[in-house]
Amino acid sequence: MHGVNLNELGRRDPAHYGSLTLTELEMTISEAAGELGLATRFFHSNHEGAFVEHLHGLEGLADAIIINPGAWTHYSYAIRDALELTGLPAVEVHLSDVDGREAFRRESVIRDLCVHRVAGKGPDGYREALSRLAEALSSTA
Ligand code: DQA
Repeated sequence: MHGVNLNELGRRDPAHYGSLTLTELEMTISEAAGELGLATRFFHSNHEGAFVEHLHGLEGLADAIIINPGAWTHYSYAIRDALELTGLPAVEVHLSDVDGREAFRRESVIRDLCVHRVAGKGPDGYREALSRLAEALSSTA
């Protein structure tokens, strides 16, 4: 799940976010998932309510979540509550090194709900997230 402004990848500062567009990033993620025997579905919104409602509807549709809420990470208790409601294992991913940037980016209101957190590894962070979730799902299967 890609949050606010992530549809603008490819136009955002490449020093932080690299040069892939969101479509290209999703292709990379799908490929990596396929190698691990996982299937993916993607969702992006710039609207917090739509993002929350997508989380509400995930029951029965997904076994796990990879979530990059963008700037919502740092303050959206609404997204936090909706993520908690899913009860699904989740990994928090950030393309950029959020801990090495502005102070406000060090805060994550979803961190403790997630089984793992990756930041600053670019698209490879999603591969790491997929591996973690593959492990988590195989240990509960
Ligand atoms: C981001 C980091 C956030 O601080 C920022 O607001 C984003 C993207 C990342 O992937 O590095 O939009 O989540």
